[in-house]
Amino acid sequence: AEPLNIALAGLGTVGAGVVRLIETNAELIARRARRPIRISAVSARDRTKDRGVDLSGYRWLDDPADVAGQSDIDVVVEMVGGSDGPALALARKAIAGGKSFVTANKAMIAHHGLELAAAAEAAGVALKFEAAVAGGIPVIKGLSEGAAANAIERVYGILNGTCNYILSTMEDTGRDFADVLAEAQRLGYAEADPTFDVEGIDAAHKLAILAGIAFGTRLRFDAVETTGISGVMAADIAQARALGYVIRLIGTAEIDRRGAAPGLFQRVRPHLIHCDHPLASVDGATNAVVAEGNFMGRLLFQGAGAGEGPTASAVVADLIDIARGEKGAAFSMPSHELESLEPAQSGHR
Ligand code: NDP
Ligand code: HSE
Repeated sequence: AEPLNIALAGLGTVGAGVVRLIETNAELIARRARRPIRISAVSARDRTKDRGVDLSGYRWLDDPADVAGQSDIDVVVEMVGGSDGPALALARKAIAGGKSFVTANKAMIAHHGLELAAAAEAAGVALKFEAAVAGGIPVIKGLSEGAAANAIERVYGILNGTCNYILSTMEDTGRDFADVLAEAQRLGYAEADPTFDVEGIDAAHKLAILAGIAFGTRLRFDAVETTGISGVMAADIAQARALGYVIRLIGTAEIDRRGAAPGLFQRVRPHLIHCDHPLASVDGATNAVVAEGNFMGRLLFQGAGAGEGPTASAVVADLIDIARGEKGAAFSMPSHELESLEPAQSGHR
């Protein structure tokens, strides 16, 4: 069968992981995708950097924007990051040029996902972003496909691996915040600017996407009430523990039906979680997402929320879907049919 030719923009933690995974599992992936997935071109800032993978067999491009202009490429995979800048320029150019687009970039999808979805639908190509929410957990697929027959009115969970790593490690070891954050950065969990992690912005990006998928609503990142963990002290963690609780950064999205019209409530904030609750035992860079549907009941998705292997696994799963012929955006319905809900303020609760 004809290979699916892909180009990779960004060769950091996630990009190098995708190369390693495609090379290691090439045969299995080809069987499941019904055709080989072939890396044709790669791009990053620094050609000389040692990335622990051999890139000599792939066409190198200095500018990620050039990736979209390669006529032999079927799919562009964006693993650069940033809500705007080169990532967004690449997305627009690739989709307008008739190429399917896979990204791990939650910041870009939270800000521009609907525009990109409409463009992908118009161009008849795929827009997929499984890796953007909860790393290796197939939660987008799980909610948009597995739970497709259900009305979901509430989704919540632990959406940032770095914060969870910091909170659970401080709790277990008494180590210092800055020291554990530096370790999360070394392990490849943190964003290029870790303020996005510790101030809750990354979790808010993911929550906005998750809410859009779960409820079939337009994304409203601007309306997520966001508080991070930078104000959480070691003493708070110890005090919580003494009372039988742990502290976790939780994102919650809910349809609020108490007003004249339904509203969308979205909040990211550190919570006290009782030690008996399933989310209390979610440690390290693990994420967990809970969704409640009117027929399926409660679903709990749990797994690695950050890091090379799990994130690469989600990216390549999207590529396999595209190799099998999938088109359109990975929302639960066409983008123009997504319901528009106004934000519900926490003061109403
Ligand atoms: P890294 O910082 O490790 O890698 C970013 C890559 O993009 C690098 O290869 C870098 O080039 C390249 N790059 C950055 N800026 C530019 C630019 N202006 N022009 C060209 N290339 C550029 O990031 P990650 O791999 O960790 O993350 C990539 C994306 O995946 C982000 O959107 C992130 O939010 C998302 N993500 C990350 C996860 C993780 O666990 N790390 C999990 C889920 C999603 P060079 O190497 O030459 O400097
Ligand atoms: N920085 C993110 C996190 C990466 O720590 O969860 C995964 O999206």
